[in-house]
Amino acid sequence: MSTWNLQETRCHLLICNGGSCTKRRAEEVTQAIRDEISLLGADKLIHTTRTRCNGRCTDACVVIAYPDGVWYKDISPELGRELVRKHLSGDRLDERLVYSFDRRFIASGLSVTGKEKASWQAVDLLNDGKILAERKRGL
Ligand code: FES
Repeated sequence: MSTWNLQETRCHLLICNGGSCTKRRAEEVTQAIRDEISLLGADKLIHTTRTRCNGRCTDACVVIAYPDGVWYKDISPELGRELVRKHLSGDRLDERLVYSFDRRFIASGLSVTGKEKASWQAVDLLNDGKILAERKRGL
């Protein structure tokens, strides 16, 4: 176990290591991203975390970048290295970007829409907890 000092961190990359992403080279993607960060001396600037499935298996291998709130699809080891360089320069991999966040996630149209989630109630957490919708599906 490690306890990192994140005070200089500018970017957090969540690298999906779920089953579908693992079949699409998630381990190699993870190692390439971490190697590129080290080669560029950016260990304090970019933090990485392996995750389990993020619910976008069609997009495997998925990498998510915060604080930008961008979701990338089809990331290969080579693209993982490019992604690191882009984020260090304040840029993005636009041609792989599936969702971006602007108070809500905006789909780029570069991937399948996906299934609707069942929910009991949708609450706008950014707007005083106002209830946006009651049960969409179910009873
Ligand atoms: S395994 Fe990566 S999104 Fe499902």
